[in-house]
Amino acid sequence: MADSTVYQASTTAPVNIAVVKYWGKRDPKLNLPTNSSLSVTLSQSDLRTHTTAACSSTFGSDDSLLLNGSPQDVSGARTQACFRELRSLRAALEAADPSLPKLSTLTLKIVSENNFPTAAGLASSAAGFAALVRAIADLYQLPATKTELSKIARQGSGSACRSLFGGYVAWDMGSAADGSDSQAVEIAPASHWPNMRALILVASAEKKGVSSTAGMQTTVATSELFQRRAEIVVPKHMEQMIKAVKDKDFELFGKVTMMESNSFHATCLDTFPPIFYLNDTSRAAIRVVEAINEKAGKIIAAYTFDAGPNCVIYFEEEHMAEVAGAIKSVLGSVEGWEGKGEEVKTSDAAHLDER
Ligand code: ADP
Ligand code: DP6
Ligand code: CO
Repeated sequence: MADSTVYQASTTAPVNIAVVKYWGKRDPKLNLPTNSSLSVTLSQSDLRTHTTAACSSTFGSDDSLLLNGSPQDVSGARTQACFRELRSLRAALEAADPSLPKLSTLTLKIVSENNFPTAAGLASSAAGFAALVRAIADLYQLPATKTELSKIARQGSGSACRSLFGGYVAWDMGSAADGSDSQAVEIAPASHWPNMRALILVASAEKKGVSSTAGMQTTVATSELFQRRAEIVVPKHMEQMIKAVKDKDFELFGKVTMMESNSFHATCLDTFPPIFYLNDTSRAAIRVVEAINEKAGKIIAAYTFDAGPNCVIYFEEEHMAEVAGAIKSVLGSVEGWEGKGEEVKTSDAAHLDER
C-alpha cells in the first residue's frame, strides 16, 4: 500500500536589519552581491516568520506556498533553487540509507506567517527564506550546517543568508563564480553586546512600490554613485563596522550605520528612474535622532532604513528613556505616527534563541 503519511516540520526565523547594506547583484541567477554587508539579527520574540513545511504523496503534483493565507507563485527561479538544493541533499541521504522514506520525491506544501508587515522594508524576505530553508531542512532531517543553509537561503533572498545566525552577522560577498564562498559569517554573538537594543517605527505597513530585487537591478544598470559605493564606500564601512562591533564602540557603530543608510538611499535617488523609499515620516525620524544625539553631545542613537520607509533605531539599553521618550513625544504628533504608539516596538537584539 502507498505511504500516505504527512511528514512535517515547523520553525521560526527572525528578521535582520543591515547596518552595512547589500544593494546590487553581480550574478542575479546565483544571487551573488556586488558588496559584502553586515546586519544585526533581532530577537525572535519580536519580528519573526513562522513556517511549516510538509510533504506527502497525498498532496497532488504541485509544490505550494501559502504566505499569510495567500497562495504564492513558487515557480520563480529563486524559490525553485531552494527546493532543488534541499531535495538533492535529501536524495543523497536516501541513496546512502535505503531504509529512509523517499521524501525527496514528495510534493512540498509550505505554510508561512509573518507577524510584521510583508514587503515593507522590514526584511520579510530575509526571515521568510531563512525560515523556509530551515523548515525544509528540518523536515528532511539534513545534517547541514548553518553556513551551508545560509548559501541555500541566499539564493531565495540575499539578506536571508544572514538570518540563519543570531547577533552580528556579515555576508561575505565571496569571489567564486559558483557562489560557493558567498555566505553568512558570525562576527560576534548577540551576547557580546548584551545592552544593544533596536526600536522599530512602522511608518507604513504597505507593500513597497519597488521590490528590493527590482530596485537593485535598476540601480546597477543606471547609477554612477552605485559604483563608487560598491568599490570604495562599502569596503570602508565594512572595516569600520567590524571594528565597532568588536570594540563595542557605539559612537563608531552609530556613525557608520547612519552614513550607510544615507549612502544607500542616495544611491536609490541616483537610480533612474529614481527610487524613493523614504517618506516625510522617515525624514522626521532622522531629525529626531539628530536632535537626541545633539542633546547628548555624542552619538547614542542611530537610525537606519532598508528598502522601505520604516525606521529602525539602534541604541544601548542605558539610553532607553532618552531615546524612546524623544521618539514618542516628537513623532506622536507627526502624521503617520499619530495614534500609533503601539507601533513603536523595542526589540531586544541581545537575547536570541541561539541555534
Ligand atoms: P522586504 O523588505 O520585506 O524584505 P522584499 O521586496 O525584499 O521586501 O521581499 C518581499 C517578498 O519576499 C514578498 O513579496 C515575498 O515574495 C517574499 N516573502 C516575504 N515573506 C515570506 C515568507 N514568510 N515566506 C516566503 N517568502 C516570503
Ligand atoms: C536594503 O535580500 O531583499 O534590505 O536578494 O533580491 O531578495 P533579494 O533582495 P533583499 O535585499 C535587501 C536589501 C536591503 C539591505 C540589506 O538587507 O542588506
Ligand atoms: Co527583502
